Amino acid sequence: MNNYEFCVQWVLDQKKDTDVRVLDYGCGGGEIVMALRKHGISAFGCDVFYEGGDYSENVDPALLGSAIKTMEEEATIPFASASFDFVVNNQVMEHVEDLDGVLREIKRVLKPGGVVLSLFPDKRVWREGHCGIPFLHWFPKSSRFRVYYAAAFRTLGFGYHKENKSIMRWSREFCEWLDEWTHYRPSREIHSTYDKYFCELQHIEDHWLQQRFSARKIVTDWLPPFAQRFAVRKLGCWVFFARKPLV
Ligand SMILES: C[S@@+](CC[C@H](N)C(=O)[O-])C[C@H]1O[C@@H](n2cnc3c(N)ncnc32)[C@H](O)[C@@H]1O
Repeated sequence: MNNYEFCVQWVLDQKKDTDVRVLDYGCGGGEIVMALRKHGISAFGCDVFYEGGDYSENVDPALLGSAIKTMEEEATIPFASASFDFVVNNQVMEHVEDLDGVLREIKRVLKPGGVVLSLFPDKRVWREGHCGIPFLHWFPKSSRFRVYYAAAFRTLGFGYHKENKSIMRWSREFCEWLDEWTHYRPSREIHSTYDKYFCELQHIEDHWLQQRFSARKIVTDWLPPFAQRFAVRKLGCWVFFARKPLV
């Protein structure tokens, strides 16, 4: 099960009515929206389609502009207030500059009691997931040393999206990309910003791991839930949900 399938299954498991509306915030190519629609769910998406990786070409043209909308700016979700039961977001919040503003908007479009499901890495994740170099995002932005650090790992065979670039060029360009397009945050900041707008925040990395390895249950059976949550957070990302208060 991949993250798209996880989000879809999570919505299907949570929904009490057949008649729910779901928004995928930062929906990229719209995979989750399309999968939910195949299950008969009223699913929508929005995305700024930023220059750091514009997936709008992958979106089904029949959905673009109607079910999947382009955001003019990250501060405004182009849907009505209190119009969604669920908002999901997969690997988006580490790209968001104004987390407070985005969560305020997600709260606005959720119905009272509605739930936001988020999957994204915090600053303390061990592997920089976009390029696959361990701890690269721990260096200060613009640090020159980390270009050589990235190059050393690249020499050892690490790294994604190599595209026949030289080791130094790949390392320099990826570090510049990280500077411009990522905003990794410490756990305290993430929790306090979510707590400002939502309640009942619950981490479910252990549930994610069990779903992910359901075919090989032996991987999860011997690890206690707290260790499962820790492993997923350090090696993958946070997986959690929170609720919009009823009043
Ligand atoms: C790594 S991609 C993930 C896309 C999709 N959620 C998925 O799982 O395939 C990050 C996405 O976040 C979008 N994004 C970045 N900043 C955003 C923002 N402030 N508001 C909405 N979307 C944003 C990007 O355009 C991109 O589509």
